[in-house]
Amino acid sequence: MAEEKKLFKVTIDNITVDVEPGTTILNAARLIGGEVAPPAMCYYSKLKGSGGKCRTCLVEVAAGSTADPRPMPKLVASCRTTVMDGMIVKNITSERVIDARNGVVEFLLLNHPLDCPVCDQAGECHLQDLSYEHGKEGTRYEFNRRTFKKHDLGEYIQLHMTRCILCYRCVFTADQLTNKREHGVLDRGDHSEIATFIEKSLHNDFIGNVIDVCPVGALTDKTFRFKNRVWFTKPMDAHRDCPKCSGEVQLWMRGEEVYRVTARKDEWGEVKDTTDGKPGWICNECRFEKKEARDWVIEGPSHIDRHSVISQGHYEKLVTPKDTLPEVMGGRPPKLIMDIHDVSEVNRPEIKLSEIEGPAHSDDFNQ
Ligand code: SF4
Ligand code: FES
Repeated sequence: MAEEKKLFKVTIDNITVDVEPGTTILNAARLIGGEVAPPAMCYYSKLKGSGGKCRTCLVEVAAGSTADPRPMPKLVASCRTTVMDGMIVKNITSERVIDARNGVVEFLLLNHPLDCPVCDQAGECHLQDLSYEHGKEGTRYEFNRRTFKKHDLGEYIQLHMTRCILCYRCVFTADQLTNKREHGVLDRGDHSEIATFIEKSLHNDFIGNVIDVCPVGALTDKTFRFKNRVWFTKPMDAHRDCPKCSGEVQLWMRGEEVYRVTARKDEWGEVKDTTDGKPGWICNECRFEKKEARDWVIEGPSHIDRHSVISQGHYEKLVTPKDTLPEVMGGRPPKLIMDIHDVSEVNRPEIKLSEIEGPAHSDDFNQ
């Protein structure tokens, strides 16, 4: 008989869960969900080796394990620390953690420009959300922010190096999804920057995924840049038969127009698994070249779990008011008293507004 696997009990913010040995504190907290899960700006469950760079996921370990219940003296990165049986962890219940997180956000914002009003990532930026929760109103920083020479990452991807928080997610994406990594982090310390070697453009079918993993607006979609604010668009799940990727995407639409195509995201802002259980990375063709509604089979409004402005203003849970008229009419269809087209010339559908040069005037309708 197969031996039953022993699970570890870990208590995070007074909630106990059973997890497999080897699980990190962050993933254990994600099993509980909600506020108990620490924010993560560099860890990305689908990218091997990610995490340990940004320190936003710091937690306090109040008891190391049942065998050795001593607390850990320093706060630990929950994305890199694995649980022990009987471990007690504090996240939002620890003042030390909240204080440290506020400090990390202040640190991340030292060099990050406050250009949300013109940044395409605004509305779905993890740093923006984090600064609403942990940021300060003012800054104590008196020096000039970092500046960089412009780098061209090809026809589809825009790099704003000043916004980069050096989380390395894009480097891991390029490393693990493409067979020829052409970009990485160059230099060290505050000179570190994401750059392409000898300024090569990135031409790989899956390189567009760096846009989805970037937690800030450092890597954005050139085909969507400045076209619309993301909260005015309507996210819809859609798919197509794609020979290169799963073809399962999210369309960001306004009316019938497709403004942007991205991979589908889960509540942690990470690429969701597809219906066959594989990570749902999408190819460049689906992302950048299929911008017509007719290219896709639209499934319906996307469900957005993430607590962010993008979870507002879409139509998934639209409740239409009850149509009481047929009831009032005793089941009979409402009676059309008169058809406006029969009695008025105000509405003249044969006049095409888009063909009139300049603004339309009454003369245009009185010919
Ligand atoms: S460009 Fe974006 S994904 Fe890449 S390291 Fe910078 S912040 Fe991270
Ligand atoms: S998410 Fe843990 S250090 Fe960045």
